[in-house]
Amino acid sequence: MSLPVVYYGSVVNPVSLKSFKALGACLIAVSSTGNIDWIVEDVHDSMVQETMGAHGYLDVEVVCLQDGEFLIPGFIDTHTHAPQVPNIGSGQSYELLEWLERITFPTESMFQDPDFARRTYTSVVRRIIDSGTTTCCYYGTIHLEATQVLFSNYLILHADYYLGQRAFIGKCNMDRNSPSYYIEPSVEVSMAATKALISHIKQLPSNPHAAEPLVQPILTPRFAITCTSPLLSSLGQLAASDPNLRIQTHISENLAEVTFTKSLFPECSSYAGAYDSFGLLRANTILAHAVHLSDDEITLIAKKKSGISHCPTSNFNLSSGVAPIGKYLDHGIKVGLGTDVSGGYSPSILNAIQNASIASKVIAMQTRGNPDASAEFSNKQLSVASLLYLATSGGAEVCDLENSVGSFSVGKSFDALQVNVRNNAGNPAMWGSDSGPRSLEGMLEQFLFCGDDRNISRVYVQGKLIGGTATR
Ligand code: GUN
Ligand code: ZN
Repeated sequence: MSLPVVYYGSVVNPVSLKSFKALGACLIAVSSTGNIDWIVEDVHDSMVQETMGAHGYLDVEVVCLQDGEFLIPGFIDTHTHAPQVPNIGSGQSYELLEWLERITFPTESMFQDPDFARRTYTSVVRRIIDSGTTTCCYYGTIHLEATQVLFSNYLILHADYYLGQRAFIGKCNMDRNSPSYYIEPSVEVSMAATKALISHIKQLPSNPHAAEPLVQPILTPRFAITCTSPLLSSLGQLAASDPNLRIQTHISENLAEVTFTKSLFPECSSYAGAYDSFGLLRANTILAHAVHLSDDEITLIAKKKSGISHCPTSNFNLSSGVAPIGKYLDHGIKVGLGTDVSGGYSPSILNAIQNASIASKVIAMQTRGNPDASAEFSNKQLSVASLLYLATSGGAEVCDLENSVGSFSVGKSFDALQVNVRNNAGNPAMWGSDSGPRSLEGMLEQFLFCGDDRNISRVYVQGKLIGGTATR
């Protein structure tokens, strides 16, 4: 399919944390730049050609969606670890610090061998794209070469790599409290490799039509426990030299981690305060987990406008706790969803949506006797609208990409999923789809709660088809 193209059919578009639009017959025009040129709602079949003509779209290809098919904005995974995909599902009995030591660090250390990275990363990126993730924030390992290999997958998978998945790729910084076989020897070595990765990613040409390069570097201090103060200080200085450079790290995931962190930074007011003291809390900082934040930390993060990546599957799986996402939303903090593979055992944002719903229900059940009537989200179950928003627009805000992706609007990139809940989608859970007419809202809910990659037939980034069942 060559651009421009017009999509005609059902569309679900997030509007806010409280509502979405479910449109039965919509025309979305995508220009040759991959950006949305115009959108017209409530178009009857007989008006399609006339509407296109009125916009100067003569002889342009029209893709008509069938009953049981609809478009939604692509999912945004605000936190995942590409090198942990090989150990998905292992280490069920451990909590965070022991899991890192016994499962994760040994697996990540294997990426010292760039050939292992080459053999692993291609299928990782492919699987994440086919799960419907159009933007992904990746942690690599401490190894420069392997992280360059992760980046090069965009070359391997797509000859014109810059039209592939939208991604942020970071090389982990770790210079203490790590095993001898998996640690950077000095601040200088860690910083040199970090700068080399940034230059490597930035030197490649970007799509001139995209607001920003589709693949960008991201600073990745693993977490405060594995970074000395001089390393965090150097990373803070590097961040200050480039306000556009995103930062990702972990925060307050597990109680033993919080206690250890406070002991390492006794001069800092809190875990969040430690990051802030090094200039690492800012509007394009992504903080993963945030299960056990104090009220002062919530106030600080809201003031700094940093975003939170809610990783509920991982928070349950590693017995970390239940993050009070409603409370953060009521404080005006940006929140997106993260799979946190392999703390989380699924690379699909659908699974994060399902567990985000359960997490909010757990909090609502626990606080039933003490509802906060004045709050909009605190202690309440997240609605379908909120869940869809967190998976798309919320993630875009967290990544500082809200002007280019996260919803369908004129001028934004066409990053989209074509969802198929017809009975030919290959997912038996959807076989009710021919039992009678269903509302678009009902189909969306069914997709979010029992859909999987079999129901994602096309994945588009910047207007280009990059994955989904239709491409396999
Ligand atoms: N904290 C520091 N590193 C990690 C990691 O790899 N996964 C999770 N879930 N938490 C972390
Ligand atoms: Zn993580």
